[in-house]
Amino acid sequence: MNNSPIGIFDSGVGGLTVARAIMDQLPNEQLIYVADTARGPYGPRPIAEVRSYALEIMDYLVARNVKMIVIACNSASAAVLRDARERYEIPVLEVIQPASRRAAAVSRSKKIGVIGTTATITSGAYSDALAAADVTLTSQACPQFVEFVEAGVTTGSDVMSAATNYLAPMKSADIDTLILGCTHYPLLAGVIQYVVGEDVQLVSSADETAKDVYRELVSTELLRTQTSLPVHEFCVTGDEAGFAQLGKRIIGQPIAPIKIKL
Ligand code: DGL
Repeated sequence: MNNSPIGIFDSGVGGLTVARAIMDQLPNEQLIYVADTARGPYGPRPIAEVRSYALEIMDYLVARNVKMIVIACNSASAAVLRDARERYEIPVLEVIQPASRRAAAVSRSKKIGVIGTTATITSGAYSDALAAADVTLTSQACPQFVEFVEAGVTTGSDVMSAATNYLAPMKSADIDTLILGCTHYPLLAGVIQYVVGEDVQLVSSADETAKDVYRELVSTELLRTQTSLPVHEFCVTGDEAGFAQLGKRIIGQPIAPIKIKL
């Protein structure tokens, strides 16, 4: 089991920010990444639809004998958070709990903001995850942010004006901590930090999830023992070329996607 890969998935390229963080913190682990680009983005879809896609991908990964599943998508995590852990015998990690825990721990004023896709924000998953913490949560969907990232646009007047509009409620609420509750948003950290100001701490679900993966593998003694360099697999349900191009930017090295049918 130790030498089995970790299964990780997202609606598209966004989850590669989580994959990259895992590769940086656990370079000996092997990944099978599934990007459901044929049906992504998930953010504008009804939560029940996202749920059925997520379960289908997780079944696929389990059939590929992975030792752990990482739901590297906030929208999918919001959709299956409640029951994914009971459905499978292997550990299932997601992005919402780690980021929420971290935000609650670092916030001093206990005024926290979260931004994400429409699916994530309307699901209320972050308010549920933070319900037991004594915090005031301000939530805002930022649907255009995913489009900017996928177009490679992180600077300029369009992204600046979208960020200024979306983040206005965060400024009014005087938050001291902002959860980047979408896997694409770490790529917009520059503009987001610029707009909210230096005093606001940004919490990236990608980094926090990778730390959870680390903790889980160590505590369950599931770390890979083989010393050969791991060969990762990047599977896509849609177009390979677009995924390879943006994926290279996020992972930092060329990737060769494999087309799969779920
Ligand atoms: N990966 C998704 C998330 O973190 C963003 C892209 C999408 O809408 O599918 O919510």
